[in-house]
Amino acid sequence: MGLATLPIHAYEAQILETVAQSAVSVLIGETGSGKTTQLSQMLHRAGYTNTGRIGVTQPRRVAAVSVARRVAFEMGVRVGEEVGYSIRFEDRTSSRTVIKYLTDGCLLRECLFDPELHQYSVIILDEAHERSLNTDILFGLLRRLLGKRKPELKVIVTSATLDGEKMSDFFFKCPIIRVPGKLFPVQIFYSKERPVSYVEASVQTAIDIHVREPPGDILLFMTGQDEIEKTLLKLEEEVRNLDEGSCMDAVILPLYGSLPPEMQARVFGKPPDNCRRIIVATNIAETSLTVDGVVYVIDPGLVKQRQYNPASGVDSLAVVPISRVQAIQRAGRAGRTRPGRCYRLYPEAAYEHELLAATVPEIQRSSLAGTVLHLKSLELPDINILEFDFLDPPSIEALEDALSQLYIVDAIDKTGSITALGKKMAELPLEPALARALLAAEELGCLDQALTIAAMLSCENIFYQAPRQGKEKKRPREEGKLPDGRGLGDHIQYLQIYDAWERHDFELEWCKENGLQIRSMKFARDVRRQLSQIMRKKKDGDPEPREVSRSRQKLGNARAIRQALCKGFGNRIAHRLPRHNAYRCIGHKSQLVQIHPSSCPLEVDEEGLLPEWVLYHEIISTTHPFIRHVCVVEGSWVEPFLTKIDNIDIQSLSGRKAVNSAKQCEDAKELPGEQSSSQQVGGSTSG
Ligand code: CDP
Ligand code: MG
Repeated sequence: MGLATLPIHAYEAQILETVAQSAVSVLIGETGSGKTTQLSQMLHRAGYTNTGRIGVTQPRRVAAVSVARRVAFEMGVRVGEEVGYSIRFEDRTSSRTVIKYLTDGCLLRECLFDPELHQYSVIILDEAHERSLNTDILFGLLRRLLGKRKPELKVIVTSATLDGEKMSDFFFKCPIIRVPGKLFPVQIFYSKERPVSYVEASVQTAIDIHVREPPGDILLFMTGQDEIEKTLLKLEEEVRNLDEGSCMDAVILPLYGSLPPEMQARVFGKPPDNCRRIIVATNIAETSLTVDGVVYVIDPGLVKQRQYNPASGVDSLAVVPISRVQAIQRAGRAGRTRPGRCYRLYPEAAYEHELLAATVPEIQRSSLAGTVLHLKSLELPDINILEFDFLDPPSIEALEDALSQLYIVDAIDKTGSITALGKKMAELPLEPALARALLAAEELGCLDQALTIAAMLSCENIFYQAPRQGKEKKRPREEGKLPDGRGLGDHIQYLQIYDAWERHDFELEWCKENGLQIRSMKFARDVRRQLSQIMRKKKDGDPEPREVSRSRQKLGNARAIRQALCKGFGNRIAHRLPRHNAYRCIGHKSQLVQIHPSSCPLEVDEEGLLPEWVLYHEIISTTHPFIRHVCVVEGSWVEPFLTKIDNIDIQSLSGRKAVNSAKQCEDAKELPGEQSSSQQVGGSTSG
């Protein structure tokens, strides 16, 4: 197919030999050297797919899809045949699939149903340098699995950065293969000081390069979609103002995770002749996607990063400085086709002294409830969660927070053992709280409503936000076109919106007219279908899962559905202050919050006070701590949780207090793989 050779091709023999001899190998190679797209094909050619599939994990959904497409193209097959992908809520594989790209979260879920991963002959933990939460957990699980399934199962860990030693040490000092990059030198320029506005400074730098420097594309790193759109508008304006004929044409393109595929394709397609591309991208272009033709990189040195604080329960999405590893990686993007230049919009001293050496892995800045539930549901016989094989362990505080959260929603009992309910929760591809709410809804007879809400909450942005002109922020919810949530909150509004869409026969035009994101709404519909099939299959063991039928009952005050949600979000309930419209979060006692201004308006009493009790999806800290996705609940529903929260015994939950379990431990050792906690299951599955 006339594909260019990549650095990794020269190492094919060495790679195959190492893999043949060792159960685990670490492969290190510069981004763009061909690890993601070529390694799987090499192993396929070498016959590894005769005995099973090759699974390649990706931390990001977009990457899994785009890379599967690429590999299918290179092999001349259609996606879903020999080469497929599997991401949450979308499986494009078939019985013929031998190379399967999947998100790390998907592989984790597969561990639940097939702990020994028998369908695979090879597992490639790709992009390990990203240190995503799920990849980190897979590290620990595969390490255990290798003991059992050696020698048929091959594991290969790939990384674009030089932390291979650490990964090799973790995997019993396995061999490291290094593929030297074909990188051209990249000249680094620093700013004298940090600019007042890095968006302005980036735009100016890009225009300077465009006007003065020889051809070559420009890659500019921004922190998020909003900022990218703002930057695009500014760049377009600046380019329009240039004297005609003074320089070549410019095309300005965005690149971020939730960008529609056809827009992404523009970045990966062949650029028009005699034209410079200016690509404004999030961190996604740092390692996971490679854009060819880049010669100039502009690096403001910032990244948007989620940080969960287990003490307060607050998730902050903050713009923080990148690490030195990231800065090096970004600069490297300029030297792939010829010598390049990287403009760092911060001083050299900041690089040396202010940036962290390496990025803090996600496991150390995330809420771990879902992860801990997952590990518990695997029932690894001999380990306490606090002692799992973590490449970098999370804090004890974060683990304890996760245990408390799970205990409050009945997923684990007071000794920390998973309950029958907890197991059912773990099998649903949803975060524990939503899974619990779905199961409660099934009992309360409002499953179809809960499915809709869960599906709507799985979308990133339901409401369309037009790229902003100036400071004006349009909020379609205020235009009075959409249902009002009956003063009961966002969840009820989501339900009303979806029902209204259904009444309009799922017309896309209707979404547009009502300021809804078409892509999100379609996604919600897909997710709803998938979830409903999963629920149905679980219930009836129905081999031909059909969708749960939609009974259009009157919504009224939506009591049952709110009650079901309350069961799931028992640890995310907020109580209004006596005479004030601020709330205190009961799960995280000291945290004071306000309802996020984007929430749908709640009913107020004659004194203008908001409802006494609400549940929320998350506490997000921007200018203040705000609760988002809010739903009104009743005091009597909340009471059991208050008692439970008051009586948490964290020592016992974390298994540090031996709760007459010595006997069980012994049983567990004799019968690995048996359920060591079966006696306790069901102990606290009340409700
Ligand atoms: O994984 P690694 O960064 O080592 O490289 P890769 O993703 O396998 O990329 C190897 C080459 O394939 C690069 O030159 C990419 O530009 C190209 N590629 C592509 O054209 N389209 C994709 N969706 C992925 C990679
Ligand atoms: Mg890669």
